Amino acid sequence: MDKSRKKFVDVIDKATVDGSSLHCDERLFTYKGILYPVTLCSPETFKALESFEARSDDIILAGYPKSGTNWVSQILNDLIAISEKKTPGTESGVNNEELEEFPYLEVGDPEKYERMTRLPSPRFIVTHLRPENLPKSIFKSKAKILLLIRNPKDIAASFYHFSNRLAIFPSYETWDDFFVAFMTKKMTWGCYLEYLSKWNKYADEKNVMPITYEELKEDPVLGVKNIAAFFGISLTEEQLQLVVERSSFQSMKKNSQKTHGAFGNAFFRKGGVSDWKNLFSEDQNEKMDKAFEEHVGGTKLGRKLKYEVYCKA
Ligand code: A3P
Repeated sequence: MDKSRKKFVDVIDKATVDGSSLHCDERLFTYKGILYPVTLCSPETFKALESFEARSDDIILAGYPKSGTNWVSQILNDLIAISEKKTPGTESGVNNEELEEFPYLEVGDPEKYERMTRLPSPRFIVTHLRPENLPKSIFKSKAKILLLIRNPKDIAASFYHFSNRLAIFPSYETWDDFFVAFMTKKMTWGCYLEYLSKWNKYADEKNVMPITYEELKEDPVLGVKNIAAFFGISLTEEQLQLVVERSSFQSMKKNSQKTHGAFGNAFFRKGGVSDWKNLFSEDQNEKMDKAFEEHVGGTKLGRKLKYEVYCKA
């Protein structure tokens, strides 16, 4: 296995082993009103996170679980490698191998942030957190944040399947049970519609670039070009093609045992748009349509998601 992925695989493997010895009710804890997995996060780490010092050149990817964060992480890792004159996929990850940290900011032990001070710039950071739960320094430093969003129905469908495959999360006997939890704010990392509404307040900031899963899927070449431009990374045509090809669903799924270990198939499930149509009932469609309108209808992020295109039967 690629050494730079070892940390990631070890953390996920350990969390799933630890989680499987816990009853579903014991797998989550609440911090500041939001649920998190006990096997990945802790109140002590959240406390330590408050004093995390962001750097202006940190490269930050913000996305709710199942919005495609592993996909866009791969794109960003390759872009950073290119900006450092390395060939994507041939050398260790962005963060120096010995100092490698699990890339999700809020996951790990409280000493993680101290260790992160020794990472060379640019540091690559991913987070599922809402903006108000991020350390203040992230916004103060003006570090650039790529905000990845996905239509809420596919988020729900993807999260349902994922929850039932990884013992990090509670499992659900039926889709209907999951749907109730999703709509009643009982999700790990909080309610997705609230997440969108909170991030919407930052959608116009110069250092925040929203991008949708669907636009990246529809035109990956343009998507990668836009991401590179936002972070000020220049690419040759050949490099662009390489990044696009390496981040295609097929390539990532094929490589997933090496990059994500035994749970590779759970991280790379279908990789498409509209799988929600296999799960949502008419009544559930109506409920989601209404809730979406209430939370983000008419807002910048709400419009960007093209709900009419991607979420109507
Ligand atoms: P599905 O469950 O709908 O297949 P995250 O990485 O944030 O956990 O998101 C996981 C979702 O992104 C999964 O959706 C997964 O299949 C999809 N995904 C992962 N890599 C992808 C890629 N290269 N292209 C498109 N979708 C991808």
